Amino acid sequence: MLSIQSICVCGAGTMGAGIAQLAAQSGFHTILYDVNKAALAKAAEAILNGFQLLADKNRITAAEKDNAASRLRYTTDTNDCIADLFIEAIVENIAVKAGLFNQLNEVNHSEVIFATNTSSLSVSAIAKTVINPQRVAGMHFFNPAPVMKLVEVVKGEQTSDATLQIVTELVTQMGKTPVLCKDAPGFIVNHVARPYYLEALRLLESGIAIETIDTLMEAAGFKMGPFKLMDLIGNDVNYAVSNSIYEAMHRPERLKPSPIQKEKLANGELGKKTGKGYYKYE
Ligand code: NAI
Repeated sequence: MLSIQSICVCGAGTMGAGIAQLAAQSGFHTILYDVNKAALAKAAEAILNGFQLLADKNRITAAEKDNAASRLRYTTDTNDCIADLFIEAIVENIAVKAGLFNQLNEVNHSEVIFATNTSSLSVSAIAKTVINPQRVAGMHFFNPAPVMKLVEVVKGEQTSDATLQIVTELVTQMGKTPVLCKDAPGFIVNHVARPYYLEALRLLESGIAIETIDTLMEAAGFKMGPFKLMDLIGNDVNYAVSNSIYEAMHRPERLKPSPIQKEKLANGELGKKTGKGYYKYE
């Protein structure tokens, strides 16, 4: 079976940066690819800060920190993206994700594996137009990827057992807990969590303040209020996920996205990553 030595993470945003950090600190030669140079520069800074934080907490030695950093390469060119396994964390769009996998397939060896970090799209639908769909699987990390233990591993209709085994073992090698999920809208966590965001938005529409909702939910034991969590996820990503689950579930009224989500997107108030969302950030 293919032994994974190198990983290319595609998309250097909220998730891609964290996954690339994790891959490099887990000992893999890691490439981080993005179309946007500024996103790569921002990710590089966040990753180096992440390694420094681990060193400050004595979780890794200074030498391990330097080694992890030296295993990372950054690129805007798909021709540089040569690896055994790809984890894509780009825009939440089936055609764009499948198109990228096919482009990468042309420059890589024939056994290469394509994992998608999609939150809500069907892995089978992404794989459908990819050459060798048996080598496509879901690998759904949580935010922030270096910290959160869970990874949902998703078997698409055509995912081979060998691919699933490689992906599952890789998750364990990265120090995470793999949980096999069906290829269903939102898998498990996003399926259950969707009403947490949408019901909070309905209350906001009815005039209840954001701070009140977040404070009460946290007081009731939830780790983060829904608005703080949406800002952390990214309001563009959260809106795309809301829409795709709503469509995949055949538009049930209870899962209808909120106009407030659309408004946030139109105003560019995407959350922590843009400095403003439901809250303001420094
Ligand atoms: P983001 O918006 O922070 O970053 C996306 C990055 O991908 C950007 O830097 C952008 O320049 C790049 N990009 C877009 N299209 C590209 C292309 N065709 N080729 C190369 N680079 C491209 O998005 P985020 O939040 O990192 O989400 C990425 C994926 O991860 C989505 O599929 C999302 O559903 C999923 N996800 C997001 C989570 C979150 O909490 N934000 C949690 C788990 C999964």
